[in-house]
Amino acid sequence: FNLMQPKNEMMLTYLPGSREKQSLKNKITEMKSSVIDIPLIIDGKEIRTGKTGQCVIPHNHGHLLANYHMAGPEEMEMAIESALKAKVKWQETPWEHRVAVFMKAAELISGPWRDTLNAATMLGQSKTVHEADADSACELMDFFRFNSFFVRQLMEEQPNGFDGVFNRMEHRPLEGFVFAVTPFNFTAIAGNLPSTPAMAGNTSVWKPASSAIYSNYFVMKLLQESGLPDGVINFVPGTGSIIGPMAMEHEMLAGIHFTGSTATFNRMWRTIAGNLEKYRSYPRIVGETGGKDFLFAHSSADVEPMVHAIIGGGFSYQGQKCSATSRVYIPESIWPETKNLLLEQLADLKVGDVEDFTNYMGAVIDRNSFDNIKSYIDHARESSEAEIISGGSYDDSKGFFVDPTVIVTTNPKFKTMEEEIFGPVVTIYVYKDADYEEALDLCESTSEYALTGGIFAQDRKAIIEMEKKLCYSAGNLYINDKTTGAYVGLQPFGGARASGTNEKVGSKQNVSRWMIPRTIKECF
Ligand code: ALA
Repeated sequence: FNLMQPKNEMMLTYLPGSREKQSLKNKITEMKSSVIDIPLIIDGKEIRTGKTGQCVIPHNHGHLLANYHMAGPEEMEMAIESALKAKVKWQETPWEHRVAVFMKAAELISGPWRDTLNAATMLGQSKTVHEADADSACELMDFFRFNSFFVRQLMEEQPNGFDGVFNRMEHRPLEGFVFAVTPFNFTAIAGNLPSTPAMAGNTSVWKPASSAIYSNYFVMKLLQESGLPDGVINFVPGTGSIIGPMAMEHEMLAGIHFTGSTATFNRMWRTIAGNLEKYRSYPRIVGETGGKDFLFAHSSADVEPMVHAIIGGGFSYQGQKCSATSRVYIPESIWPETKNLLLEQLADLKVGDVEDFTNYMGAVIDRNSFDNIKSYIDHARESSEAEIISGGSYDDSKGFFVDPTVIVTTNPKFKTMEEEIFGPVVTIYVYKDADYEEALDLCESTSEYALTGGIFAQDRKAIIEMEKKLCYSAGNLYINDKTTGAYVGLQPFGGARASGTNEKVGSKQNVSRWMIPRTIKECF
């Protein structure tokens, strides 16, 4: 079995006239031509409850892609039973054969499944082709390959012994089932959260985000085609407030693998705290939540790459990344140049239907999100402390479109500097160069989150100073680069404070959370 250090998968270019572009376009047309029926998948079987929700295209919300069936308490009970039953065999399956299922899934994505996953992510989540390919193809393949490799590394790491004493470490899966609760914004994260525990020998109940069920269903089908045994991952769309407590109050809950909002994660911790006496072991609670990610510029910053970072970090995928740049601190001395370039670049940035392959941004995910983002923009428009210097408009007549919006505020604690918006809104605070230290303090203290951050400077002394000052403010710190787009294995991803437990997805540390190590000493 040859499992070497993987390399990150390269994105395809989808150039005009290319075969890959035509093939993806054909797949999009094919997928749009029918409305599919998405069942629950429990113990490998399709279950239809008749209680359904709808998947629509966010940039064309009149177009129905699928009806999905929703689990109630009875199906949730079945899913937990199925996970517990499947675990008996799966945990005894050699780790090489467990990871082989996911290595095969990665190979299938590099072949026939790439178009399906990319088309589903473009249509269901309104990602542009490049955002979709980076996510549902490359990052998902990377998660599968790198995590397989980390499983091997963990299995092979053994303690020293000495004459007459043989020390060993054994890594077994957790006792019980894992509850994987996944977000809408990355198909790769959704696929990864139930899969990493499975590689380590666990089984899970997977509750996908309702607004990403379309692509997530295809990930589940891909895993089945790759040889995933029945019941190892149980796909259970449903209402979180109904089915979530059933998993969290179950005595065999072994762990939670979560990405989503801080409010939901907090509720999960509270539910678990209230049920501690029930569990066999303390459940492993691994979660990545929100962000209010900063970009802090020093007067020595190179303006052009910084403006690219503001646009790429703030507006790619409509700002709907937990890692999105959303509060920016610029010194007065470089503000005029920054502002000119930013406005010039934003004037070229196109928003619209992602299916035409040329727009930079699609629509935001759904009406709730559209209304929420709109309320922040309106708040800025009405405030004497803020000025909207670009964008500020929105239109939900056909799709949930929000223009890339830049707010400049005189109040460093302005609402849009503090609260997570999860949309294409960047707020800038221009500080006086003489107040650099104070501005750094503000950057450090303004947000409860600590996910990503970017610092821009050419002056090495300033870089050292900023890196030190902001040491607890970001789990992923970027020097002279945008705050989004971490690569699996290269920039392990996750944050602390209100941003989560910082157990970097796609890292050996994360994989180890799904294992119970046992140390064995044998004397001869
Ligand atoms: N891992 C994603 C990023 O880095 C969220 O943007």
